Amino acid sequence: MSSLLLDAQNIAHSFDTSLFSDIHFSLHKTQSKAIIGRSGSGKSTLLHIFSTFMQPNQGEVSLFGENLYTLKEKELEALRRYDVGIIFQFHYLFKGMSAMDNIEVASMLSGEEISNDILEKLEISELMQKKVGELSGGQQQRVSIARVLSKKPRIIFADEPTGNLDNETASLVMDILLDYIKETGAGLLLVTHDESMAKRCDEVYKLEDKKLFSYS
Ligand SMILES: Nc1ncnc2c1ncn2[C@@H]1O[C@H](COP(=O)(O)OP(=O)(O)OP(=O)(O)O)[C@@H](O)[C@H]1O
Ligand SMILES: [Mg+2]
Repeated sequence: MSSLLLDAQNIAHSFDTSLFSDIHFSLHKTQSKAIIGRSGSGKSTLLHIFSTFMQPNQGEVSLFGENLYTLKEKELEALRRYDVGIIFQFHYLFKGMSAMDNIEVASMLSGEEISNDILEKLEISELMQKKVGELSGGQQQRVSIARVLSKKPRIIFADEPTGNLDNETASLVMDILLDYIKETGAGLLLVTHDESMAKRCDEVYKLEDKKLFSYS
């Protein structure tokens, strides 16, 4: 089986004006890549395109060898449910539910078990019974990371996963994400403003002047 997880060719997108064009990008198993760039340069948009949530004006995206724009809606849903893990820039947790219930919803949908090991590594095992609304921003962020990992995705898209965290906790989250892909053969695409986190990935790219440049 090919080790290619993500392959994006010739991507272009505009909202009111052109955001980017001529973007080529690939990600292989066990590989980690980071994208940096100024606020508003289009990083989150690119991540949404790569992760099935948006269709670009131009170009092709394949995940696990499947062209996203020729898949049936059901097949796309299955990809999202079982194979694609997204850590959003703004974490989408159910605020009125406990941290544990939030994670259980995700693992129920994917049929995978939550690993206590991951909860412990993220230092959130003690918080599981608390309502999400009672947790700090960084605690919520770690719950949303646990939620994504609990479904054992084959590829992880992480948009500023360490944005609300102090350096030490941020570094711990990076350890967990990088260990996860080495252990499972998944891939990681990280979008961040934090160059020290970006540099922990195998390759760094910069989105600038509507193009994606190799930056490492
Ligand atoms: N759904 C949308 N409709 C219209 N414009 C949008 C939409 N989503 C994003 N934009 C615009 O596209 C540009 C890029 O947004 P995007 O969120 O991709 O930037 P970003 O690089 O992730 O920024 P940040 O670092 O602040 O998160 C912004 O100017 C934004 O206003
Ligand atoms: Mg963004």
